[in-house]
This record gives sequence, structure tokens and C-alpha cells, in this order.
Amino acid sequence: MNIFFLLSLLLLPIFSLLISRRRRQPSERVPPGPLGIPIIGQSLGLLWAMRANTAEKWIADRAKRYGPISKMSLFGKPTVFIHGQAANKFVFTSDASKMSNQQTESVKMILGDRCLLELSGEDHKRVRNALASFLKPDSLKNYIGKIEEEIRRHLQMHWQGKHRVTVLPLMKTLTFNIICSLLFGVERGARRDTFVQFFQEMIEGMWSIPVNIPFTRFNRSLKASAKVQKLLKDLIHEKRIELEKGASPHQDLITCLLSIRGEDNLELVSEHEIIHNVMLIMVAGHDTSSVLITFIIRLLANDPNTHAAVLKEQEEIKNSKPSGDYLTWEDLGRMKCTWRVAMETLRTVPPVFGGFRKTLEDIEYEGYIIPKGWQIFWVTSMTHMDDKVFPEPSKFDPARFENPASIPPYYYIPFGGGARICPGYEFAKIETLVTIHYLVTQFTWKLCCNDNCFRRDPTPAPTQGLPIQIVSKKAL
Ligand code: HEM
Repeated sequence: MNIFFLLSLLLLPIFSLLISRRRRQPSERVPPGPLGIPIIGQSLGLLWAMRANTAEKWIADRAKRYGPISKMSLFGKPTVFIHGQAANKFVFTSDASKMSNQQTESVKMILGDRCLLELSGEDHKRVRNALASFLKPDSLKNYIGKIEEEIRRHLQMHWQGKHRVTVLPLMKTLTFNIICSLLFGVERGARRDTFVQFFQEMIEGMWSIPVNIPFTRFNRSLKASAKVQKLLKDLIHEKRIELEKGASPHQDLITCLLSIRGEDNLELVSEHEIIHNVMLIMVAGHDTSSVLITFIIRLLANDPNTHAAVLKEQEEIKNSKPSGDYLTWEDLGRMKCTWRVAMETLRTVPPVFGGFRKTLEDIEYEGYIIPKGWQIFWVTSMTHMDDKVFPEPSKFDPARFENPASIPPYYYIPFGGGARICPGYEFAKIETLVTIHYLVTQFTWKLCCNDNCFRRDPTPAPTQGLPIQIVSKKAL
């Protein structure tokens, strides 16, 4: 490609940004802090800090330097960073006509403009309700067996007979397989393997600077996204034919979405919306739960008391059932100690670092003006580490969650809050509890690498993916 064309690709957005800045000088009352150089701003600083496991410190240093509300430029957009309980409440409860969800340009270009993250108002409600009809507990109850089958098969294939495994890539494979089977009805085989390959390429460039230049992560992601969309289009076509032949609408998420009809008896969710939201769920559902399970496994290896408590609870459940029986919804309800361990893991290592909103008009917040069209950047970790609510915040202590009512609202936000609170919460809970049940009752393990660090890319990943030595207690 011609170098001048490449340069113009790079410079065009910079010129347009400079021109639009000259037209619209930010008000005197915008929060303090530099916007940095156009397009790049502070993006590289934050991305580097994430990869060096210093993102929390990077954020805290900014807060110390510029105060609780400051401006910066992230991923090509002027951004206001706010934190604390009041800030979380402000973000999660703001009127949708004043503040909409905002993804970085790269996420929007890769996942598509009809995914839930890009929708607002009635469109958001309509698509979210359709997804929730599949992801709500009453519906998920019927799929515990299917999730369990994937977990049993995974352990047989990747853990049984092995002495050493690397946890994070295996948990990504497991959660991806659960999603493929349960949400998209794609069974094991060549098609699932192709999905995995394109999907991994797609996800790699999601948090990058959105300049589409060949050989960059972003460029590879965009290409992979186009291939995933094509595969999904074919899949939807096949499922439509199956439904017309009388197949059950409750096979998987896609058949469920295709079957929901509006008052006019037409499909309530368009084909584009199905494709874009299926891609969103692939990303939102697999990178998060896999991280949670990985960090629980690391914690259980490091903390014998917590391991003993979780093992006791899971052994009791196992011994109360005939051998080989599937877990029931009631069994999951008895896994209270295990879920408290998961909640404390989510507090200390939240898989989602934070998110963005966009102002639809000038908004006044704490005496400052956040101009129309700017991003608002919220982060999960700041209130999770607030010692007013979580004494000795660096200590791992699942007992904090024995009485959830003692935690004031908007302090504990691993799943976000308000109208956009994570709709996959129950799904994540089921896959985490069932996986931990099988792991602690079937295996013992110890860490091969005692380095307790991790980097964010953008989800947290332990050093070397968490290699462990395992011993099987008995054959599955
Ligand atoms: C431990 C696991 C998970 C964590 C920590 C997590 C966390 C989050 C967070 C922080 C948000 C953003 C909320 C906001 O912007 O206010 C979110 C949104 C979302 N999550 Fe999850 N998530 C998890 C698992 C899942 C799973 C398993 C699925 C799907 C099966 C899922 C689907 C979604 C979707 C579709 C959204 C967008 C909701 C909207 O914009 O209305 N998540 N999640």
C-alpha cells in the first residue's frame, strides 16, 4: 500500500479532531488534567500500565494528581475519569437521554453497531429483554446438565491423566465450548474449531487504537470479525430452516431469539442484531468467567484454609447424591461458601477493569461540566479497595460477603449496575460453581510458578497463564 495513503489515513482523523477542537473550545469548568496529543492521548500510558499490572496504580496516581474528577483522552476521545461510590451511582443511574453507553471506536467497529453496548432507550430494552429471556435463572435451570456435560468432557480430555496443565488457556477453551454448545448450538468439530480461531484473532484487537493499518492487531481483528459474522449468518440461516421444520425454539440462544415475535408476528430481533449480540456474548461471556475461575484456582492453591472450606462444602454436596448424578439447581444454592470465595475473587481481581459512557448533552457533575459528546470512564477497582467498606482491602477474606446487606450500594460493582448490569451474572455463577465443584472433588493441585502477578490485556491474566501440577483423586 502507498505510504502517502497510509500517512493520510493516520493524519486525517488528527486534522479533523484539531478542526473540531478549534470550533468547540471546552468550557472553563471542564475537569482538570491534560488531554495529551490528539488521538493517542493517554491511551498508550493506560494500555502499557494494564500490561504491566500497574493500571490500578496508574489510575490512583491520576486521582492523586488531578483529584477525583479529571479529564484525559482515551482511544481517540476526550474523556472524564470519575470514581467513588457517588460516581458509580451517577454512571449507573443516569437518565438514558443524558448519557448513553459508549464503547471505544475499536470495540464498536469489531462487534458491530447493533450490539447491546451500542443500543439505547427502547432498542436496548427490546434486545436486552430478548437476551434475558434466555439468560434468566428460570430458563438456565434447564441447561445445568448441558453445562455439566461440557465440564466433565473437558476434564476428561484436558486434565485426567495429566501431571501439569496451564489453567487460563484451558478455562478459555472450556468457557468458549460452553458458550458454543449452550448459546449457539454449535457442537464439537471442525466448525467449532474455525469459530475459536477467528474469534481469538477478533478479540485481540478490541482494545487498540482504531486506526486500520495493515499488520496491526486492530486490522487483524476487523478481518476476523468479518469472518465470524459470515459464519454466524450461515448458522442463523440453518437454524431458521430447522425451526421451519418444527425444531424446538429452546435448543439454544439463537433459536430462542429467532422465535421471539412482536405484536405484528414478525421477528422481534433483526438478523443483524442477532449476529452482533451473539458476538458480544462470545466476548463478554468467555473472557470474564474464564478469568474468574482461573483466579479462584490460584487462590485455592495459595490459601489452604479457604481450600479446606470449599472442599468440605463440595464433598458434602457430592456425598449427598448417587454417584454420577448431575447437580441440581438446589445443589448450586447450597454452594454458598464457594460463591463467597468467587465474590471476593471478583472484588480483588475484577475481570472487567471499567467501562465508558457518552454524554448526550453537557452534564454538570460535582461543579464541573462534562461537555456533550465526551466519554465518561468508570473503573471497578477503586471502590473495591475502599477501606471504609472493605477493611484491610488487600486481604483475601470471603467472610466479607456473609452479610451482603452490610455492603452499601455502588461499592461492589464487578458486574456493573443499573439498566446495563451484566445480564450474564447467573450464567457466570453456574459455570463457575459447577467447574469448581468438579475441580476440588476430583483433583488436588499446586502452583508451578509462585509469581502472584498478573497483567491486563484487557482482562487479567496470571503470569505464564498459571501452570499447575495436578493429581487426580480418582477417575471421573
Ligand atoms: C465473571 C463473569 C462476568 C463479569 C465479571 C461480567 C461483568 C460485566 C460488566 C462489568 C458489564 C458492564 C456493565 C455496565 O456497563 O454497566 C457487563 C456487561 C455485559 N455482560 Fe457481563 N460479565 C460476566 C459474565 C458474562 C456472561 C457469562 C455473559 C453472557 C453469557 C455476559 C454478558 C454481558 C452483556 C451482554 C453485557 C452488556 C449489557 C448491556 O449493555 O446491557 N457477561 N458484564
